[in-house]
Amino acid sequence: MTAQDDQTLDFYARQAAAYTARGKGPNERRLLQFLSRLPTGATVLELGCGAGQDTEFMLAKGFAVRPTDGRPEIARAAERRLGIPVATLLFDELDERETCDGIWANACLLHVPRAELPGILARIHAALKPGGVFHASFKAGEAEGRDQFDRYYNYPSEDWLRERFGTLDWAEVTVEAGVGSGYDNKPTDWLYVTALRPD
Ligand SMILES: C[S@@+](CC[C@H](N)C(=O)[O-])C[C@H]1O[C@@H](n2cnc3c(N)ncnc32)[C@H](O)[C@@H]1O
Repeated sequence: MTAQDDQTLDFYARQAAAYTARGKGPNERRLLQFLSRLPTGATVLELGCGAGQDTEFMLAKGFAVRPTDGRPEIARAAERRLGIPVATLLFDELDERETCDGIWANACLLHVPRAELPGILARIHAALKPGGVFHASFKAGEAEGRDQFDRYYNYPSEDWLRERFGTLDWAEVTVEAGVGSGYDNKPTDWLYVTALRPD
């Protein structure tokens, strides 16, 4: 088992043009909540940036954002939109120590195979500076599975997620539930996690 699912990555490679051109807007409320916990002009690493709308929002608010995505096809599309480099970075290639004030991973760690999530969370924890802020969102469920496009999802419950976060030293972990949708346009239960690294 690796930290990425090949069928999922193939989907994003094949659908990069359609996926990034669909006009999805940033989740402004969640972004503003996240940014309000960071110092002015803080450095933010975005994982799995997709079309780049969230990086675009954070840049416009004056933050020093480094967008990344695991698929080069997606990274190139985001780069065209943003006009700045977008690195191709798989989650398990993140190997930094205390470089980021914030890490934004919206709707992307939901594709990490269940057994691999603790290792990816440990990489994120290590890359955060003391006092750093981490955001991630997941489609909620009770068991891993695939959607109609064959994308893998870990579909966690709140308890399951809390156990995985609990293997690391966080000052605070909050999990909020909400209802939204996704590329499949189906009503979807979401879990939004904010975790703070201790000072
Ligand atoms: C559902 S999309 C979300 C995109 C964006 N964060 C948003 O909220 O619109 C998931 C993104 O994660 C990327 N991704 C999937 N698996 C990945 C992996 N193992 N490493 C890095 N990126 C990955 C995909 O290429 C895709 O752009």
